[in-house]
Amino acid sequence: MVMRETEAEILPGRRSRVLTYHGSFPGPTIRAKSGRRTVITQVNALSQDAVVHLHGGHVHPDHDGYPMDVIEPGAARTYRYPNRQPGATLWYHDHSHHTEAEMVFRGLSGAYLIEDPAERALRLPSGRHDVTLMMRDARFDDDGQLLFEMDDFRYRNTLLVNGRPQPFMEVSRRKYRLRLMNASNERYFKLGLDDGGELVQIASDGGLLPAPVPATSVELSPGERVDVVVDFGRYRVGTKIVLENTAFDSSEETRQVMRFDVVRGAADHSRVPDRLRPMHDLGPAAKEREVKFSLDMTIPAFVIDGKIFDHHRIDATVRRGETEIWTVRNEDPMGIPHNVHLHGTHFQVLERSDRPLEGHERGWKDTVGVPVGGHVRFRVRFDDYTGRYLYHCHLLDHSSMGMMAQLEVVE
Ligand code: C2O
Ligand code: CU
Repeated sequence: MVMRETEAEILPGRRSRVLTYHGSFPGPTIRAKSGRRTVITQVNALSQDAVVHLHGGHVHPDHDGYPMDVIEPGAARTYRYPNRQPGATLWYHDHSHHTEAEMVFRGLSGAYLIEDPAERALRLPSGRHDVTLMMRDARFDDDGQLLFEMDDFRYRNTLLVNGRPQPFMEVSRRKYRLRLMNASNERYFKLGLDDGGELVQIASDGGLLPAPVPATSVELSPGERVDVVVDFGRYRVGTKIVLENTAFDSSEETRQVMRFDVVRGAADHSRVPDRLRPMHDLGPAAKEREVKFSLDMTIPAFVIDGKIFDHHRIDATVRRGETEIWTVRNEDPMGIPHNVHLHGTHFQVLERSDRPLEGHERGWKDTVGVPVGGHVRFRVRFDDYTGRYLYHCHLLDHSSMGMMAQLEVVE
């Protein structure tokens, strides 16, 4: 893949300069197979350093996209992804230190789907009835150019789905699997259909849930994914259904995410079985850990355990194969929302202080919201590799400003 700057028509009739993976905004969707290795050589034809991270991948630290492992302009790097993990909706994006927020905002992200032969027997909607919807917000200037200013989330009022503003999609009267991804830098989504129709949650960040969970809305903080099945068979041909965002800060402009137009009948042999994939038990915890997310007004900077990121410092040492319970607290004095993302593994959320866990939050997660003034607790174990991995807030403007820490997995 070649990373390069190009122009894309995002707003109708306008040409916007974007940063791309291989000329595509967002990047091309990569379809990997569980148990089969993917090797990607990334060539940097940009004018600045780049780093590629596979978000949700169980990847050796050398291939994880560590912020200091930069690909300089004109250079290339080969990333090896073993895909020794179950089917799941992942994504890849830039992770260059201090600049990932702007690089991702300008286009450097794409979907990475791990397909799993073990899922086939479930007969979930597949093929062209399995659709990835990468959702994000953006800000444009009067010339139709993307305008990035650090942390100016208030002005990012154009919603894009797969690089298009509030698009529509023609659907048949049948079930679809929709892979909903929050690829925004800082925006939270609360997604539902405008008629209150059911979305059946079937997978979280780490892949299939133990059992389907029906819902009328799902919440996603930046970086989170949920796969849902929507049965358009319940609508008449001619019906238009809007996927809406009713998050706390949604406005007139950011309410409509996209529209589904039911245009034809269809035979449907897919189903949503009662059992999907059992979750294994991580066992009792050998260690409990507390992590504090905050804002240090004296620096001023977003901090983790009082510190901004320093790649020379190891913030936590974790034993491979040993289960831990983490409590992550949001002690931000300004009441700013944060979430937490761990590289290298998936975790099981035990509780969040603001409300009961909802459907997909009970599945395998790599990113979860940290309630304002509260906490989230999860059970986690690193089984795969030793070495350094990041954990950070996935509001990318925050991590770019240093709201990031690293752990070292040791034998
Ligand atoms: Cu999606 Cu450290 O990132
Ligand atoms: Cu944050």
